Amino acid sequence: MGEQLEGKTALITGAGGALGAAIASRFADESIANLVLVDMTRHAAEHTRAALPSSVKAECIAVDVTDGPAVEDAVRQTVETFGALDVYVNTAGVVSPNARIHNLEFDDWNRTLAVNLNGTFNGIRGVARVLRKKAPVSIVNIASVSGLTAWPYASAYCVSKAGVLHLTRVAALEYAKEGLRINSVSPGTFPTAIHADLPEQVLADLDAKHPMGLGTPGDIVGAVTFLAGDDSRWMTGQTIVVDGGYSLP
Ligand SMILES: NC(=O)c1ccc[n+]([C@@H]2O[C@H](COP(=O)([O-])OP(=O)(O)OC[C@H]3O[C@@H](n4cnc5c(N)ncnc54)[C@H](O)[C@@H]3O)[C@@H](O)[C@H]2O)c1
Repeated sequence: MGEQLEGKTALITGAGGALGAAIASRFADESIANLVLVDMTRHAAEHTRAALPSSVKAECIAVDVTDGPAVEDAVRQTVETFGALDVYVNTAGVVSPNARIHNLEFDDWNRTLAVNLNGTFNGIRGVARVLRKKAPVSIVNIASVSGLTAWPYASAYCVSKAGVLHLTRVAALEYAKEGLRINSVSPGTFPTAIHADLPEQVLADLDAKHPMGLGTPGDIVGAVTFLAGDDSRWMTGQTIVVDGGYSLP
């Protein structure tokens, strides 16, 4: 058990997913006091809460991150319930269908950008509206190496994550003097439900492209914890690439 997040309160979106659950578990290991677990349904978030130690107070809320006012409400509710919000992790994400641009439906393009990019915008905006100039907050956005390197058949996903990386930089500058730090983590591929619709060959090809092989959610959470906690207090606008060597030139 570490103490990197001792006494802090964190809100995690996409908390019912594989990475969200791993982040919640690692935050608990680092002595976090309170967690707000956000996902599309309470049920998804409750699954993650059930695996946490009783030392952590955890609230589960259903919020669609594409709904800006609902995201802002979740921030206010967290502050009302726990008296603080120290860490906000934008984990909620979806992948776009595996298709070249001429075969991609506009609705699929829009949905991917709405969840991955607009959802992250809503999180940053919600925190800024409620807490800027009032209390320090570390915002950690889950981007992807697909935002740094171009992947054919994944235009919407790549563009959404490239957008998250640049939004991270712009937001970092906007709020550097107002107490908000905004950083991101760019993971390589770790197989989860998000890959359920991907042809097996695509996953095998991705495996071959990672010099250290594919990762696991547990491989990503150390970087998220570092950015969430005070050891990264003089960092903002950056991304930490955790990808088993995938993006090396
Ligand atoms: N798995 C990978 O290889 C990989 C690599 C790089 C980045 N990522 C990113 O990591 C994050 C987590 O992915 P994962 O692999 O754990 O996938 P996952 O499918 O297990 O988790 C994603 C979670 O987000 C939730 N979600 C989706 N849309 C939402 C919305 N509109 N509002 C609220 N919640 C919503 C889902 O219900 C799910 O619980 C995503 O942002 C993903 O893009 C994943």
